[in-house]
Amino acid sequence: MSTDPILQDAWRRLATLAARPDAQRIRPLFAADPERARRFTVALDDLTVDFSKTSIDTEALVALLDLARAGGVEGFRARLFAGEPVNMTEGRAAMHMALRAPAGTTLKATLPGGVDDASALALAERKRMQAFVAQVHDGELRGATGQPFDTVLNIGIGGSDLGPRMASEALTLAHGPKLRARFLSNVDGHGFAALARELDPARTLVLVASKTFTTQETATNAQAARAWIAGALGEAAVGSHFAALSTNLKAVGAFGIAPERVFGFRDWVGGRYSLWSPVGLSIALAAGWDVFQAMLDGGHAMDEHFRSADFAVNLPVLLALVGIWHVNALGLRTHCVLAYDERLRRFPAYLQQLEMESNGKSVRLDGTPVAGPTCPVLFGEPGTDAQHSFMQLVHQGTQAIPVDFLLAARPDHDRPDAHLILAANAFAQAEALLRGKTRDEVEAEMRAKGVPEAEIARVAPHRVFSGDRPSTTILFRRLDGFTLGRLIALYEHKVAVQGALWGINSFDQWGVELGKLLASGILPELKPGGQPGTHDGSTTALLTRFRELRQE
Ligand code: F6P
Repeated sequence: MSTDPILQDAWRRLATLAARPDAQRIRPLFAADPERARRFTVALDDLTVDFSKTSIDTEALVALLDLARAGGVEGFRARLFAGEPVNMTEGRAAMHMALRAPAGTTLKATLPGGVDDASALALAERKRMQAFVAQVHDGELRGATGQPFDTVLNIGIGGSDLGPRMASEALTLAHGPKLRARFLSNVDGHGFAALARELDPARTLVLVASKTFTTQETATNAQAARAWIAGALGEAAVGSHFAALSTNLKAVGAFGIAPERVFGFRDWVGGRYSLWSPVGLSIALAAGWDVFQAMLDGGHAMDEHFRSADFAVNLPVLLALVGIWHVNALGLRTHCVLAYDERLRRFPAYLQQLEMESNGKSVRLDGTPVAGPTCPVLFGEPGTDAQHSFMQLVHQGTQAIPVDFLLAARPDHDRPDAHLILAANAFAQAEALLRGKTRDEVEAEMRAKGVPEAEIARVAPHRVFSGDRPSTTILFRRLDGFTLGRLIALYEHKVAVQGALWGINSFDQWGVELGKLLASGILPELKPGGQPGTHDGSTTALLTRFRELRQE
């Protein structure tokens, strides 16, 4: 818990406002203020964020903005952009902004033992990537049999998969890919088996994406792909079919990938921020360089906005504060993201890592326990599919779950009617969450349909919606590369601001290490002749049963 009295006051003020009897009511706020929608909507050009359908009123907004100031968000933002080691457990900067900065920008990044000219390094590598993409698209770079590539297979996991997978899908679904993109992340061999059935090795370019180049899943899948290429085309073919995206150039060399096919980045790029780096090569190959560059430009535009806009109109800061209101003031520990856009179907999966790996922490920078909740559990699906699965719970379950709705005004297909149906559903869901349906309304509706009174009494309670369920709507003109870049950077900075206010390190992920370590101990036990190790009773029994079931 911070001992800064101004900050403590700001948190207390928030708690006091949240303790008001009507703190979760939203409809009365609209009734009291006809200007509410306008006053609680902020836009950056066409990118419009409406948080009026939350219970944040003027007093709460003032308190939240005070909290952002007292919580040192300005100082944190300055340190972030100055390339200071904000990832203090690893002594590293978090300088993914350099990857999307245009030529002429100077951004530095601290690492243990020195300071990088991050923007210069990023620009040089971007030029190499661009040349490589052009060579593949022009058919200058071909597979070992002389055939041009028709597929890029990205092998990676976590940040080396989720971002590239989400973005290439988002940016190719409307117009089709320049190169078909496939993604292999899970070590489960069923994934590779399915791809091996589908793909032609002679026309497949394999990208091994791994920041550390030590990740077990990626190493296993990369070896499988290597054997697949070598088996089909001969060992000599491997070099023409592989490229690597990594910070660990030594390990890449040991795998046998030639230096001209290795695209590097540095440790000031966190795994979940790496889609802007060479890890995004699959996006550029699938969607085209111009689209990838537009995504970088969109990310940079959001950086500039985050860096310069007053907190009261600063989209990442406001999105972070809306989250703080829900999580810390109102105690709502779940968050739902509904993109009404088929192209963003992997966006919630991508955000799960961004938000939960970054802010799923319970210890402050100084090692003391946090005073309250941090990252909420995040989930989501595209709309309208979500409406036919879990939205029942969001409307009528026992807990309020804040929702982010995302929607493009213009589609990139030629069925305007379908898009209007999609949009109508997005607006209707947000409105239904807000408005609800009272018992009186339900009864009147049933009476008008001639339903007998006894039946009304029996069923009416089940048809009541509480309403006053919060949502934020993010509306934009089109989902192009630029807007996708703005959206991703919007959430990245939102997460960073929340981390700063919670006083945690958003840029490490020690919580995933123990499982990795234990798995490497269990693996030899599972192999033929492996000796049982020492575990808790449940794990020992399950390992025994697993061995039995394999033998039966
Ligand atoms: O899950 C832990 C993690 O380190 C993520 O942060 C990262 O994105 C992922 O593993 C993959 O790591 P790498 O790119 O080094 O293979």
